Amino acid sequence: MKNNILEVKDLKKTFVMGNGRKIEAVKGISFNVRRGEVFGFLGPNGAGKSTTISMLTTQRTSTSGEVLIDGKSLIKNPSEARRKIGVVAQHNNLDRGLTARENLIYHAKYFGMETKESNKKADEYLEKFGLSDRQHDYVRSYSGGMAQRLKIARAMMHTPDILFLDEPTTGLDPSYRAILWEQMTELNKAGTTIFLTTHYMEEPEQLCDRIAIVNQGELKAIGTSAELKAMIPSNNIVSMKLSELKQNYVEEAKKLPGVEKAVIQNGLLQLYMNNAQPDFNHLIGWTKGLDTTLQNISLSTSTLDDVFIHLTGKGIMNNESK
Ligand SMILES: Nc1ncnc2c1ncn2[C@@H]1O[C@H](COP(=O)(O)OP(=O)(O)O)[C@@H](O)[C@H]1O
Ligand SMILES: [Mg+2]
Repeated sequence: MKNNILEVKDLKKTFVMGNGRKIEAVKGISFNVRRGEVFGFLGPNGAGKSTTISMLTTQRTSTSGEVLIDGKSLIKNPSEARRKIGVVAQHNNLDRGLTARENLIYHAKYFGMETKESNKKADEYLEKFGLSDRQHDYVRSYSGGMAQRLKIARAMMHTPDILFLDEPTTGLDPSYRAILWEQMTELNKAGTTIFLTTHYMEEPEQLCDRIAIVNQGELKAIGTSAELKAMIPSNNIVSMKLSELKQNYVEEAKKLPGVEKAVIQNGLLQLYMNNAQPDFNHLIGWTKGLDTTLQNISLSTSTLDDVFIHLTGKGIMNNESK
């Protein structure tokens, strides 16, 4: 058995628009996903996450590059690959003309599951995802949250070797989010590899063994959360709220002792310190010399968002510049 369930080599997707304009959604990314791991694909909206997932799950053809699922070319063996994967797409791709239960049962049938087993699984997942009462209703009558829960249940029905989830928590309230993580973890423990995309930095931090950071169609870094955080100059970040923020404060702050890097982020001046104990007196004294008032100062440890800022100059959740 191969160590990597998924191998991606120089994968590209270029969309050609009606007016001839080209959008390079995925610009040649390469990475491997190990059998049994929970792999996170973290990046802001427009990074190319959904385009990548759609190529890895045979829903879209790639412009170039190679994808191996379980050591076999996806392009040469699409139907074999499809049997091994489960997908929770970002868009609603349920059959709206069927009931919720029928969506699950037909899916199970397509994957060759026996009637008894598929009924048992359907009962279990409808119950877990709070859909038992509405299981005989047509999906077109479902709310967004209910449809999302059903999409997740459907992808889990056939116990795939690798389960792809594209921003699965969007539209889920916190209690179902917890159920999703629980079910996902259970499948993972039983041997299913998980490939999870998200733009919420706290999700991969808590759930993923390794995380790939993507931005504008490029893979910027890959590693455990600790490895990614080790890329940034410091674990200690001083955030200052100032009555007025000017770009030259960033330049001035970089000259302060102990400051490795300075950025403006979320309306705050953030200083990445290269020593364990920032000298607050000195920092407060420095702001007194600026034509602004210090309103708040705080110390925090770095997050994956800080890693993202370090790599791209921008936060994941907003587009404020450095
Ligand atoms: N069908 C399409 N036609 C043209 N451009 C597309 C299409 N799908 C996605 N894109 C573009 O590709 C880029 C990546 O989009 P997407 O993969 O959806 O990102 P993400 O899922 O990370 O938010 C964006 O610039 C988006 O506008
Ligand atoms: Mg997307």
